[in-house]
Amino acid sequence: MFDLDRIRRDTPAAVSSIFLDSAGSSLPPDPVVDATVAHIRREAVVGGYRAANERMADLAAVKTSIARLIGATPSGIALSDSATRSWSDFFYSVPLTRGDRILLCQVEYASNAIAALQRATATGASVEFVPSDPSGQIDLAALENMLDERVRIVSLVHAPTNGGLVNPAREVSELAHRVGALVLLDACQSIGQVRVDVGELGVDALSATGRKWLRGPRGTGFLYVRPGLAETLEPPALDLHSAQWTGEREYQLAPDASRFEFWECSVAARLGLGVAVDYLLDIGIDAVQDAVSARAEHLRAGLRTVAGVTVHDLGDRRSGIVSFTVDGRNPTDVRDELAAKGITVTVSHRRSTLVDMNLRGLDSVIRASPHYFVTFDQLDELVASMHTGRGH
Ligand SMILES: Cc1ncc(COP(=O)(O)O)c(C=O)c1O
Repeated sequence: MFDLDRIRRDTPAAVSSIFLDSAGSSLPPDPVVDATVAHIRREAVVGGYRAANERMADLAAVKTSIARLIGATPSGIALSDSATRSWSDFFYSVPLTRGDRILLCQVEYASNAIAALQRATATGASVEFVPSDPSGQIDLAALENMLDERVRIVSLVHAPTNGGLVNPAREVSELAHRVGALVLLDACQSIGQVRVDVGELGVDALSATGRKWLRGPRGTGFLYVRPGLAETLEPPALDLHSAQWTGEREYQLAPDASRFEFWECSVAARLGLGVAVDYLLDIGIDAVQDAVSARAEHLRAGLRTVAGVTVHDLGDRRSGIVSFTVDGRNPTDVRDELAAKGITVTVSHRRSTLVDMNLRGLDSVIRASPHYFVTFDQLDELVASMHTGRGH
């Protein structure tokens, strides 16, 4: 249930400050912090192994909760320590040979692009960027024209790091599957603020992080792999959890997505992630999506009234990321001045989404990402602050 008073009581810093960086690393609610810290304290009493053994059922439930959130089954989830780890573990396991094609989107995240370029060099595959259409979303007609049977993988960023659009994942999956290409959805910025149902979207794999819109601890993330697909892929690195040493010269891969997991992890952080996902499920993703969208639109409308401020968000469908610049002001200076007033925003730099920022002639943008725990009055305070000193 969406009870803003309770939610804000669970998030003391959402009251004592104006926190607008859930696209960076959000404020975890108290139950997440308590579960994480309690486990570290328990490890200090009985040791990490006994402490983990005591929580085996809760650890297994983390995957069940994530699976519920995205409409999957637990065997399709691999827990990891970041979105990038999840994305690359899947990406590097897809076989590529000379002449194969990798399609990335215009708003591709730098880490994904770097991995694709590295693999292209190693395998003789090519990397191509699908342009965006005038709305800012991926150009579906251009994608359709680019697709042929040499395309092995289409990477789509669901919600980019540098602006407020949401890409049409279902349409991309439909087109890509006509030529047998795999669709890897980077849901790092959408999971936790937008309804993401892997069945509806039809994606083959999805990568996500815990620390952003899910409000989990840092160092958490997960990979989803569609049923039947994980069994056909061999991850680039294995250990005694992703595979079993069955004979002197033999090993057997885990039968499901856990072949993408290593044994060692922060148990405390994973338990915290489970609590974060349950917290979200309890509020309901539809209520969260509506609340985030209403806040982001309110902020955009407010910022548009400030002389010298340009809001840069594109897309027919928009996320909770609000990106803007102020004429004659360095975004980093604006961020620092707002921080001094207790308002946390961040800056998204060209290097994170190089192709898109170059094409739009942007070097960096101020990024405000209000989650559902922010009040409209707090957003008005940011706008008022921009009016009085344009960030001074
Ligand atoms: C769109 C997108 N993809 C991937 C990432 C990388 O996430 P992580 O730092 O958890 O690896 C980010 C981080 O900001 C992102 O915004």
